[in-house]
Amino acid sequence: MLKEVLMKILFLDQSSKLGGAELSLSDVAKPYRNDCLVGIFADGPFREFLEKAQIPVQVLTNQPIQISRDSHFIQSISRLGSLIPLIARVTKIARDYDIIYANTQKALVVGALASFLSRRPLVYHLRDILSTDHFSRTNCWIAVTLANRFASLVIANSKATQSAFIEAGGRPEITTVVYNGFDPENYQSQPSSLSHLKQQLGIHNQYVVGHFSRLSPWKGQHILIEALTHCPEDVTTILVGDPLFGEEEYAEQLHQQVADLGLENRVQFLGFRSDIPSLMACCDLIAHTSISPEPFGRVIIEAMFCNRPVVAAAAGGVVELVESGRTGWLVKPGDVKELADVITLCRRNPKLAIETASQAQQHLQMSGRFHLSKTNQQIAHLLRQLMKETPYTLDPSSERS
Ligand code: UDP
Ligand code: GLC
Repeated sequence: MLKEVLMKILFLDQSSKLGGAELSLSDVAKPYRNDCLVGIFADGPFREFLEKAQIPVQVLTNQPIQISRDSHFIQSISRLGSLIPLIARVTKIARDYDIIYANTQKALVVGALASFLSRRPLVYHLRDILSTDHFSRTNCWIAVTLANRFASLVIANSKATQSAFIEAGGRPEITTVVYNGFDPENYQSQPSSLSHLKQQLGIHNQYVVGHFSRLSPWKGQHILIEALTHCPEDVTTILVGDPLFGEEEYAEQLHQQVADLGLENRVQFLGFRSDIPSLMACCDLIAHTSISPEPFGRVIIEAMFCNRPVVAAAAGGVVELVESGRTGWLVKPGDVKELADVITLCRRNPKLAIETASQAQQHLQMSGRFHLSKTNQQIAHLLRQLMKETPYTLDPSSERS
């Protein structure tokens, strides 16, 4: 379907880890793998993942980038200077590509300047809610200013992400929403292997609530742990994920919370796993508990494709994914009691939970919403338009070195 697209794309991502932004980017990059490069700003599992998927990847720097989510103005501006060698390298590489496609905020900073210097159009795939719930004012300002000035197109991963961008001063006319896509085939699992996995995890006779996310305060694993104390005794939980971005202290706090509440027999920390569909299939219910607005929330749609009921925190893009009472349940972010009530409802009424899950799965199947093929078609169309319209586009044969 996408074979006719003859575009050379330089994707940029700051991370070496496998977060949702990186997993989504690999899905976007795959159709272009014969003619693209994913440039990343640190070495690690993301490189290995891309190599396994046969997507060309290059680690573009071995210098850690010092700007953090909550940097102040002076810190951010003074640290921008340290990016100069990386910007120079990306500018040089970009001359062999038609489009620069930034997938994260630091990639935007580098990509924006490289786009200006190499005269290649810039696409910014915005996967964050640019508000003070998540970032310092300075970082929001830098992202919006660079996107407004340099990006020809901002692809937002939800309407909530798009609105936050516009509210922060982003130009509405350059934004469009494209939801993340998933290949339904990846979310089928064999009942025989499930019972083996359940045995392995020691959860074959329990009611299991799964939580699938990096361990991070805003992802709210502590809310689920506390909710367990209000649920029937046979409700247990598996927490799947690692602290990916330096939040080890939170991980320690979670272990302490479990010990303080005497929940050692009801909570398991499984760390980072690559067998998400099988693990989801082992669960009776999947909980999403972010206490700050979630930009999209891949795990919610993954749970639906796995035919598992979902309870999710109603903020950000999540309200675009779940219709409460029909395709899952929405609860107030951070509300322990409300979460515990939904878990207890599902525990006492498994038929209702199963019906809700299959309603959600059928809805996805019939509507084609969140299907990867559709997402990739939308992106291919946007990129083709951009190639036609952008004033930056030059005759590639004369420009490529
Ligand atoms: N995930 C994973 N292994 C884990 C925990 C999570 O592969 O141990 C995946 C999960 O299936 C999902 C992604 O990581 O696809 C997380 O994306 P999401 O959008 O839910 O949150 P993010 O971490 O990007 O904010
Ligand atoms: C970011 C967001 C997450 C989203 C993912 C993929 O990591 O935090 O909500 O699902 O990007 O777009």
